[in-house]
Amino acid sequence: MQRRHFLELVGGAGALSLTRPMSALAAPHDLWTPSRTRTPFHIPPVLSANDLTLTARAHSINVAPGVKAEAWSIGDGPLCPTIRMRAGDTTRVRFENMLPEPSILHWHGILAPEAADGHPRLAVGTGASYQYSFPVINRAGTYWYHAHPHGRTGVQVYRGMAGLLFVDDGAEDMLGLPPEHRELPVIVQDKRLNADGTFAFEPGMHEQMEGYFGDTPYVNGVRRPFMSVDTTTYRLRVVNASTSRILRLEFSNKMPMTLIGSDGGLLPQPATLTSIDVATGERADLLVDFSKIPVGQRLMLRSADFTSPTRLMTADDMKGMPAMSGPGPKGMAMNGMGAGAMSGLGMNHAAGGGIQQGTALDLVEFEVAHAVTPEPWRSVPLPRVAMLNPALAAKSRSFTFSSRQMRHTINGRAFEMDRVDETVKFGTHEAWTFINDSPFAHPVHMHAVQFQILERTGGRARLFPWESGWKDTVLLHPGERVSVLAAFDKYRGRFLLHCHNMVHEDMGMMMNFDIV
Ligand code: C2O
Ligand code: CU
Ligand code: CU
Repeated sequence: MQRRHFLELVGGAGALSLTRPMSALAAPHDLWTPSRTRTPFHIPPVLSANDLTLTARAHSINVAPGVKAEAWSIGDGPLCPTIRMRAGDTTRVRFENMLPEPSILHWHGILAPEAADGHPRLAVGTGASYQYSFPVINRAGTYWYHAHPHGRTGVQVYRGMAGLLFVDDGAEDMLGLPPEHRELPVIVQDKRLNADGTFAFEPGMHEQMEGYFGDTPYVNGVRRPFMSVDTTTYRLRVVNASTSRILRLEFSNKMPMTLIGSDGGLLPQPATLTSIDVATGERADLLVDFSKIPVGQRLMLRSADFTSPTRLMTADDMKGMPAMSGPGPKGMAMNGMGAGAMSGLGMNHAAGGGIQQGTALDLVEFEVAHAVTPEPWRSVPLPRVAMLNPALAAKSRSFTFSSRQMRHTINGRAFEMDRVDETVKFGTHEAWTFINDSPFAHPVHMHAVQFQILERTGGRARLFPWESGWKDTVLLHPGERVSVLAAFDKYRGRFLLHCHNMVHEDMGMMMNFDIV
């Protein structure tokens, strides 16, 4: 339970300054000192009815004590409610759009018919509504939903149009996982707030290439969250809903976490890890055991610093980017480039923008506050995961993701709403290879399927424990090539393949495929 008496405000809104000086952002390590000046951990309300009306609107919220902002969301919170669905049920959702511009909801990771998948061509205008209906056929797992209008997904998700979606089923019920009150939603974003309380989202020239980065991390829509926990096991259901930022989750004391699930539900077996990478769109279902932490101790869930493996920027990549002075982003190799050419990369810093990719960030401060007797969760075998057989792939296709000359393309083309880029035969398996031929990371996402990852070559050249089960989003650092296997056997219709860096997606790093 949250204990508000830990929250001692130090002078109200002014203390949580709206604009942090650059010097405060410079030190990547040890930003954290235990403090009692944090915001109570916000848990979005949970909706579990099979018939829902979800109304999106612009409204005022608190992102920290005394700090107001304008959110675009469903309900009264800074983000959207958590929706719980039960496998085998049929969900009916009426989406009412009271936002000042067109929108549509997409159920990310959910296997839904074309008409319920939230393709951007289905976006509805202000005052209009859209009716969804679909049977819940996914495995139990941590999914999420978000706005998906073309060109505006980034800004709408950033302002709050995102929520978690949990699917429950009988197989998961058997595992004795922590009860609902010890299940913590962790929706991570990074944002910049203007002095007038609006969320700034105006990617500059460099940000249109690498991505848009906030100057402050938010969890479940609030800043600097604080949570009191008992000496037992908690389940953290994490989604990275940030525009472009990759997270490397760890605890400040480097304690092990047990990863039980990723995008498409439970993994074939749990993995004990001290750090987990989660790119935009990806999820991590984690068990965290606080039973060995002395009562009174505080620890921080954070994103550790990392360097993105890089490909050299070529003069060709940079054509169209203006020359400005400033340091290049961390980890960006720029061998052989003159100062004038490389300088365009420093724009977000020169412009006083967000914290660069790979910088350490504090996310949630926990205090182990109460000793309790419940036994921590003990590892039990997870339900079997049926593996697809690569030999059964009817066809292979490859997709090259390029970011150059102010454009983001797949196989050389930018998204067109009504152009069908690939046609897949219903009922078949295919192997799709994604190739990152660019200096930036791309988290690649497919609608209509969950896939299994076969291999990664180039760059990190390996697969990670969080990539072992069913996935719908996979991260490609520069120079990487990832092959996945998917069965196109649920629904016929038009679906999307896109980069989930929402700046890239909105600029057209997306394509349609038809399953016929
Ligand atoms: Cu998370 Cu096409 O979306
Ligand atoms: Cu999706
Ligand atoms: Cu991308």
